[in-house]
Amino acid sequence: MVSTESDHQQILCAYGGSEPKESAGIDNHILVDAGTVIFREGERGSSAFLIERGEVEISVRRNGEDVSLAHRGPGEVFGEMAIIDDQPRSATVTASQPCQLLMITRDQLVNRIEQTDPVLRMCLRVILQRFRTTLLRVQAMDHVDLPLRNDRGLEPDRGAQQYDEAVREIKLEEEIRHALRQEDFALYYQPIIDLHARSLAGFESLIRWRHKHRGMIAPDVFIPTAEASGLIVPISHWVFEEACQALVRLDQDMASLCGAHQPIFMSINLSVRDFANLECVDIVRGILDRTGVAPERLKIEITESLLMHQPEVAATALSEFKTMNISIAIDDFGTGYSSLSYLHKFPIDTLKIDRSFIRTLEKGNDNYEIVGTIINMADRLKMKVVAEGVEYAEQADLLRDLGCLYGQGYHYAKPAPERDIIPWLQQAQTSQGPL
Ligand code: CMP
Ligand code: MG
Repeated sequence: MVSTESDHQQILCAYGGSEPKESAGIDNHILVDAGTVIFREGERGSSAFLIERGEVEISVRRNGEDVSLAHRGPGEVFGEMAIIDDQPRSATVTASQPCQLLMITRDQLVNRIEQTDPVLRMCLRVILQRFRTTLLRVQAMDHVDLPLRNDRGLEPDRGAQQYDEAVREIKLEEEIRHALRQEDFALYYQPIIDLHARSLAGFESLIRWRHKHRGMIAPDVFIPTAEASGLIVPISHWVFEEACQALVRLDQDMASLCGAHQPIFMSINLSVRDFANLECVDIVRGILDRTGVAPERLKIEITESLLMHQPEVAATALSEFKTMNISIAIDDFGTGYSSLSYLHKFPIDTLKIDRSFIRTLEKGNDNYEIVGTIINMADRLKMKVVAEGVEYAEQADLLRDLGCLYGQGYHYAKPAPERDIIPWLQQAQTSQGPL
């Protein structure tokens, strides 16, 4: 990972060594006075900057003179070129007014560029190359009297919404990075019930973010940003390790509570980005070795979109997991753009029927037919089925009638921290319990 320190250091130096007036520490705001050189032409760069307030001047030194190329103001970005193509800074940037800048790190930019589709990536490279060639040609002339780019970029009024979204994204990413360092993530566990044996079959581990100011944050708020930035890889690594350690502890707790018991499984959600990481399978192997968890106790949950959009990436990792004896479940089944053909192309063991089908499940209605059909199909393909979002005893009864093996949902338990599991189990097994 490339450090983002150096630009920051440079600003510090330009600042005469005094502390930069960064607001709130982790959100990457930098305040600079008028006249501060933010970076110089020819230096290596490690960040781009979004101007939130103030104005900067972009200049080059030619024949011993500073030649002004352009001014940039609120809503505009500078310093992006060196980050995208790894060349030295093409110009010097000086604050012409007091500025508030938001630092965009190389990781933030490069991760996204690497992930965009190849056509867009190629176009970006060509545009940048052309811009640099023009810049060199113009700079070779005796004098430069026209700014090369005098467009005003993304003015806040024109692109206010996009601008706000981008700023939110940049800040959120920094906060996620910080949360990882501070270990502010937690795992919650939701029981998965064997509907016929009326017993606990396993757990799904679900990540939560214990945010210092905003309280508990659900994954849908931060996982998309974690995926776009690549931070999902270290997050999933942590999740995997933590879930395996919890499984070992739960085994011990359950043994002291009810003696010998059926081995329970642990479901762990992974994302497309995890699969694209070549070390993913090795990381999992390492965790199994360290924790001593048997691979057949684990289920990896993936979404249909992974199989649809990145079939080659998925196929390699999934078959390795399968060889290791780890099960594979399709999460939220029925909501993606399903092509059923993938079901027999990949080593899938379990379908998790999306909650939207269970919510309005009633004997004989459309969802009843759909759920029944999915269960029959899974049966013929030798796959197990988990019904998600079971909220009432009646839904559990209908699912049992339809031959569904497992159920998960608020009827049994909400996702809860590890310390609540044993008390839940004790209560669940009483006559008033949901089992
Ligand atoms: P980078 O090369 O990283 O550092 C200098 C920055 O100045 C560059 O990225 C662009 O953001 C900006 N820049 C370079 N040349 C011009 C120009 N001619 N007009 C406006 N901005 C420029
Ligand atoms: Mg899931």
